[in-house]
This record gives sequence, structure tokens and C-alpha cells, in this order.
Amino acid sequence: MSDTEVSSENRGQWSSRWGFILAAAGGAVGLGNIWKFPYITGENGGGYFVLMYLIFILLIGLPIMVAEVLVGRTAQKSPVGAFRSLSKKGSPWILSGWLGVLTGFIILSYYSVVAGWAMHYTWFSITQGFTGMEADAIGKAFGTLYADTSTNVFWHLIFMLLTIGVILGGIQRGVERAARILMPVLLLMLLVLLGLAISSDGFGRALDFVFKPDFSKVTGAGVLEALGHSFFTLSLGMGAMITYGSYLKKKEDLVAASGMITILDTVIALVACMVLFPITFSFGLEPAAGPGLVFVNLPIAFSQLAGGVFWSTLFFALLVLAALTSAISLLEVVVSTFIDEFKMSRPVATLLCGGAIALFGLPSALSGSEDSFFGNGFKDHSAFLFDAETGKNWFDTFDHLASNWLLPIGGLLIALFVSWRVSDRAREEGFKNGSRFMRWYWHWLITLRYVVPIGVLSVILHKIGLI
Ligand code: PFF
Repeated sequence: MSDTEVSSENRGQWSSRWGFILAAAGGAVGLGNIWKFPYITGENGGGYFVLMYLIFILLIGLPIMVAEVLVGRTAQKSPVGAFRSLSKKGSPWILSGWLGVLTGFIILSYYSVVAGWAMHYTWFSITQGFTGMEADAIGKAFGTLYADTSTNVFWHLIFMLLTIGVILGGIQRGVERAARILMPVLLLMLLVLLGLAISSDGFGRALDFVFKPDFSKVTGAGVLEALGHSFFTLSLGMGAMITYGSYLKKKEDLVAASGMITILDTVIALVACMVLFPITFSFGLEPAAGPGLVFVNLPIAFSQLAGGVFWSTLFFALLVLAALTSAISLLEVVVSTFIDEFKMSRPVATLLCGGAIALFGLPSALSGSEDSFFGNGFKDHSAFLFDAETGKNWFDTFDHLASNWLLPIGGLLIALFVSWRVSDRAREEGFKNGSRFMRWYWHWLITLRYVVPIGVLSVILHKIGLI
């Protein structure tokens, strides 16, 4: 963004389409791709889960991404204001904007704890390193960190401070520059690791595991998780892309940009799997190892590698930075809404919202401890949300709630809003402005009107046992 390109409402604008793509992709690529996708793929048995995820990305995620960016660009506002300005006065649609703000608030509160693990691992790589450690000891080290409440609280707060600091700097200096520099480095690092993984013994088994669907493993919960994750990984269903879209110029091709972001995000998630699972199989480890997968398997590989200290420091530092660009977009949704709705100044809104999220994240930082109420103790209180008889700790419960329920519901509302409620003129103009994909307008509209609602509703209704 150059300082002269400020729109009538004094909102910033991206300097070019690539500025937008890299920033939005920086927001989309994060812990969801590198930490969460491989571990839930492992837990859900691999191939069929990946296939469901890819289908959801293409048929549901991409059309909703276009819809969100379109709403943001047309309305030039953050989510709540965008819903208001594109619907009638007093319309209940603005509640979907607020639902998005609530979802962003919840996600960032626990996201920051995982980012904290990555910070701890970066620090550990620099100060001690994994070189020479036995696989067993590396596994135990993650278990110890997971249960260690004070270390978790410490890193969670540091990460929140960092995120707040970047947002205080404003959209231009903070988000765009960070994303521009970091995205390509992260991709390059993953490709180097992929090169190592390809030559390992476990590569063939990993290919089968990730790409060969085994339909005996299909479960309702798994399908819902694949749907939820397709929203989570593309940052959809809570207005993040509305906020980004509000900074995109009218003449830019938003369909092409959305397609690019989706491709980048999906490729990075698949590459992350093809880095992690070959290691898993080469070392005879468990694919269903849970949230510790990336924090155990990669260090095991690094411990055996020449220059392991360098590799592990670089990897975990990049993971922190990928998490940071996503956290920025989560906090930006909440903060820009408070600025627009309550006429707050940016510093006040940032400190208030960031501080509240940091506080709400504390129970997530305590969740790994057996003794904590938010750990084991919380399982009795959350069982109603899960199929099993016992529930999960606070962290897992809120992750489950936000990604598997709130995001798909938010995405469904956005699809319905854009395809049925926004005027034909605004919708068509928004889609076609500067686009090379004009002739896809009707396909997109029909998908948004029928395929997305039927798809999302049937997964949800099936999960709650109604169909
Ligand atoms: N897409 C991010 C990831 O995959 O890590 C997480 C995320 C960021 C979700 C921003 C939602 C959001 F608005």
C-alpha cells in the first residue's frame, strides 16, 4: 500500500493484487496447515479424510472465499458493518458478523498456545538442540511441555504481545510486509524438507496413507472434521476474508486472487503431510499421535540430521512466523470491528481486544495439566459435545466448537447472505469487476445457493443424528 492510495473512508488498500494475495495467503497459511492438518489426517486414518477435505475445499471453500472477499470489497467495511450495509436496516444478518467476531476471539485464544509451543521449540533448538537425543526422550519432552502450565502461560502471553504489537503498527507496515517476506521462505523450507523425506524409507507408505482412500475408516465425526478444517485452513466462516477484501481495489480480479490463495494454502498443507508422514513411517512411529505430531516427529528427524540445530531452529522460527501472520488476521477481524462499530481508536481497540483474548486463552494454556480444572476436570463438563462418554479438555473443546461448528455455520450464513440477500447488481458487479472468470458467474452462484447449503447442512444434520 502506498500512503497516497487511501480510499474515501480512510481505509488502507493493498499496493497490488500480489500484495493482497500474499497477505491473505499469509493469513490463511498457519498452524492449520502444518500442525493441525497432518495430525487430524493421522487421527482420521489418512486417505479418505484428505479426499473429503479436498472436495470441501473445491466445492465449498473456494466459492465461499470468493463470496467473503466480494462482500468485503463491495462494502469496504469489517464484517459487522459489511453485513449491515449490504442488507436492510435493523436486519438480523449483522448477527452473522458478530458470530464471526466471537469465533475469531475463541480461535486466537487457543491458537496462541500452540504458537507458544512453536516458540518454546525455537528457543529449545537454539539453546540446546535435539542433536543426539533419543526418539523416546523427544516424545517425552513434548509431553512435559504439554503439561507444564507455567511455560505454556509464559509463551502464550509472549505470543499475544507480539500479535498485539504488529496490529498496533497498522495494516500496511504490519501485515503486508510480514507476509511478503515470509511466505516464500516457509514454502522453500518445506520443499527442502520434502526433498529429504522423498529419499527416506517411509515415503512410499506415506504416499499410500495420505492419498489412498480407505473408506472403511469413514466416520460422521471425521467428515465434519474435514469440513470444519477446510474452513479453518482457508480462514473462512468468520469474516477474516471480508476484512482482507475490504482493502482490495475494485479493479483487481478477486476470483483469480481467491483461487491463488486456495491453491497455495492447499499445496502447503499437503507438502506438510508429505514431510511428516514419511518420517513417521521411517521411524516406526504412530500416525495418530495427536497434537504432538509435528513437535515430536520433526525433532526426531532433526536429531539425526547433520546441521540439525540449524534446521530445527529455522523450521520452528518459520512456524512461529506463519502462526503470527494468521494470528494477525484473527485479531484484525476483532479489532477492526471494534474500531468501526464503537468508533474506538486503533490502539485502544487493539489493547482491549488483544488483552481480553490473552485472558480467555489462559485456560487453554492450563489444559494440558492433569491436575488443572481446565485439563482433566473439564472433561466431565464437555462430554455433551462429543460422541464419546468423556469430553475433552478446555483447549480441545473450544477448538472443536470453533472449527467444527462455528466456522461451518458462519460460512453457511455468508453463502446464504451473498447468494440470496445481496442485490443481483452488487453481486454480479463484484464478481465480474476486473475478472477473467466472468463466465463462471452462474456456476459460482448456483454452487453458493444450493451446493454449499445442502453440503454443509447435510454434514451437520448427519452429525447430530437427524439424517
Ligand atoms: N487459517 C489459519 C491456519 O490455517 O492456521 C487459521 C485461521 C486464521 C483461521 C484466521 C481463521 C482465521 F480467520
